[in-house]
Amino acid sequence: MKQHPYAVQLLIERRFDPGADSPRYRQLYELLRQMVVDRELTAGTRLPSTRAMAAALGLSRHTVSTAVERLLAEGYLISRPGSGTYVSRHFASSKHDERPPGPARSADSLSRRAAAVISAPRSPFPFASGARTDSGAFRLGIPAVDQFPVGHWLRALNAAWKEAAKTGLGYQHPLGYPPLRQAIAHYLRASRGLNCQSEQVIVTAGSQQALELTFRLVIDPGAAVALEDPGYLGARAAALSAGARTIAIPVDREGLDVAALRALQDPPSAVFVTPTHQFPLGATMSLPRRIALVGWAEQNRAWILEDDYDSEYRYDGRPFDPLAVLDRAGRVIYIGTFSKVLFPALRLGYLVVPPSLVDAFEAAHLSSDIHRPLIEQMALARFIDQGHFAAHLRRSKEVHAERRQALLDHSARSLGGYLDIQPASAGLHLFGLLAAGTDDRAVAAAAARRGVDVWALSPHSLRDQRAGLLLGYGGVLPAAIPHGVAQLGRAIEDARPAPAPTR
Ligand SMILES: Cc1ncc(COP(=O)(O)O)c(C=O)c1O
Repeated sequence: MKQHPYAVQLLIERRFDPGADSPRYRQLYELLRQMVVDRELTAGTRLPSTRAMAAALGLSRHTVSTAVERLLAEGYLISRPGSGTYVSRHFASSKHDERPPGPARSADSLSRRAAAVISAPRSPFPFASGARTDSGAFRLGIPAVDQFPVGHWLRALNAAWKEAAKTGLGYQHPLGYPPLRQAIAHYLRASRGLNCQSEQVIVTAGSQQALELTFRLVIDPGAAVALEDPGYLGARAAALSAGARTIAIPVDREGLDVAALRALQDPPSAVFVTPTHQFPLGATMSLPRRIALVGWAEQNRAWILEDDYDSEYRYDGRPFDPLAVLDRAGRVIYIGTFSKVLFPALRLGYLVVPPSLVDAFEAAHLSSDIHRPLIEQMALARFIDQGHFAAHLRRSKEVHAERRQALLDHSARSLGGYLDIQPASAGLHLFGLLAAGTDDRAVAAAAARRGVDVWALSPHSLRDQRAGLLLGYGGVLPAAIPHGVAQLGRAIEDARPAPAPTR
C-alpha cells in the first residue's frame, strides 16, 4: 500500500536523529536506505520534495539532494520526470513478507546432528583466558608445558618464516607440509613400529579434526558407531556431528570388551578405541583383544579409529604395538597428536590412513580448512629434524614420571579412605573410584570451589554407573600436588550426603 507524502514526511522527521559522527547527507542517506530496505517506506511511495524535506528536517536543500541523488544512483529510488521521486519497485513486498513475522529462528531449525552434538556433555577443558592454566592441580589433558623449550621453538619459527617468505605464502598441500609428513612417518616407524610411508600421513588440527574428518568420510548419517563406555567425549561429539548413532561398549581391565562388540546383531560401521591407554579408565588393551578386534573389523569391513593420544608416556616398559601394526586388510585409521608431547595450543596432530583412503582425506581437507597453517608445520618439521623434539620428549617423560609418583604417594597418604586410585601404567592422568553412590559431579564442583580441578567420571559414561574422578598430573607443578590432594580430600568430605537423622 502506498503512503501519503505528508505521512511519509512525518515518518522521516520522527526517525531522523542526526548525530555528530558523520556528515548530515550521509545520515539522511543511511536512514532512507534503511527505511526502504525494511519496507517502512513501501514500494511505489512518493517521497516529499527535497524542498519540503529540507524544511521539515532543518537541513539545506543541497544536503537532502545529495542523499536523494545517491539513492537514485543506487536504485533504491526512481525519478519520474515531472511527477516526483518514488521508492523503487524492487522493494515490493512479496506475499511472504506481508505475513506477520513468524517466531524468531531458534535451535529447532538446526540439523538433527547439531541438536545431538549440542546436547551431549562436553569435556570440561579449562580454556585459557589470559590466566596461566598449566600449573594447577589437577588439570586434565595438559603435559609439562612449563618444560617446553620456548627458545628452540622461537628459533624454528623464525627460520620457518624466513624460508616461507622466500618460497611462497600461497596455498599449501591439503595433506600437510611434506617435510613434516616425512618427519612424522619416520618418528612413527622408529617409536611405534608402524610400517607407514609419508604419503599415508595427513596433518590435522589435533586429533579432534582427525576424528571429525574420519567420521565424516566413513559414516553415513544414521549408521552405528561403537564407542568405549566410559569413553572420550571428543570422539562422541565427532561421531554425533557426522550423524552417527552411538553404541556403548563396556570397558574392563583389558580394554574394550570385544566379545560385546561381536555379540551385536547389527555390526557398527566403525569403532573408536584408545588401546594404549584407555580414556578415561587407563587400561591397556591386551594382545588377544587387539587381535580379536582387528579380526572383527576385517570380517565385518568395519573401520577402527585408533586414538594413540598419549602412548609416549609409559611407566613400565615398552607399550604394545598399535593396532595399525596388526592390520593386514587396511581397516585401521591411526590418530596421533602433538598436544601431549608438545602443547595443546599448537593444534597439530596427524592421521595415518590406508593408501586407499588418502585421496578421500585430501578431498575432505579441501572442504574443511584446506590445510593447517604453514609456518607452524615448517617450524615443527625443523624442531623434529634438529633433535629438539626427541630431547623434549625424553625430559617430559622424566618429569611426568616424577609428578605421577608424587601424586600417587600423596594420595596414598591422604586419600586412602576416599578415592581408590586404579592402576595405570601410561598417560598423563590417573583415575580413582569414589565410594558407591557418591555424586562425582558434586565432588568435582566442591573441588572447584576449593581451587582444585578434577573431572567427574559420570559425564563420560553412557551406561557405566560408577562414580569416580580423573586427576591430571602432567601439567601440575610438583609444589601444587600436596595442597591439591589435601583440598581434594576435603572436597570429597564436603560432597558426602549428610547422614540420615537418627530417632
Ligand atoms: C582420548 C584423547 N584423545 C585425544 C586427545 C587430544 O586431543 P587434541 O589432539 O585434539 O588436542 C585427548 C586430550 O585430552 C584425549 O583425552
